Amino acid sequence: MTSAKPPHPLDELAKLRLLPILTVENPAHIAPLAQALIAGGLPCAEVTLRTTAALEALKALAARGDILAGAGTIRTVAQAKAAVLAGARFLVSPACVPDVLAWCRDNAVPITPGCVTPSEVELALSYGVKAVKFFPASNFGGAATLKAYAGPLPDVKFIPTGGISLKTLPEYLALKNVLAVGGGWFASKDDLAAGRFPEIEQRVRDAVIIAKQL
Ligand code: 3PG
Repeated sequence: MTSAKPPHPLDELAKLRLLPILTVENPAHIAPLAQALIAGGLPCAEVTLRTTAALEALKALAARGDILAGAGTIRTVAQAKAAVLAGARFLVSPACVPDVLAWCRDNAVPITPGCVTPSEVELALSYGVKAVKFFPASNFGGAATLKAYAGPLPDVKFIPTGGISLKTLPEYLALKNVLAVGGGWFASKDDLAAGRFPEIEQRVRDAVIIAKQL
């Protein structure tokens, strides 16, 4: 008997439509964070490789098995390898780094690289990328820019991140070329330091309600 193949991570994200971006200083925060995500109805997260605790945090999140765990801020092949080893099912990069894109293509690892211009989008697609990160979204024209890209780049799906909030979330989710919306605002550094997990859960819940309406 063969077991069912898990859905492609990007298909899972396309269903959830939201991607919390977690920058974790203390791996002990992963358990209450995961609990807040699950209770809020959003079983996915990107852990950024920006702290010394990041890989341990990613490992703990991925090992649970009930959350789609990815790794962000991937800028080198070494980071990509370490993140996959720690259990990341998808990678996110702030940029299009050719070495990293080639490694992901050759190892069938899904990656959403950061793109701002159509030329960067085309570069990403040439490496077999299925969706790109639009970063930093609010600085580069926000939802209006993605709306303009829908005409000449009709096949491209975007994950906008950077400067988005619960307030501006609907503008992005209303666009057909937006696969999911990411953000660090689900769980800020201050929230984590102060242990404000009920507030994080409520924010997740609110975003999930908005995503279900659009
Ligand atoms: C990132 O990769 O850090 C994200 O784009 C987060 O941006 P935000 O914190 O402004 O949501």
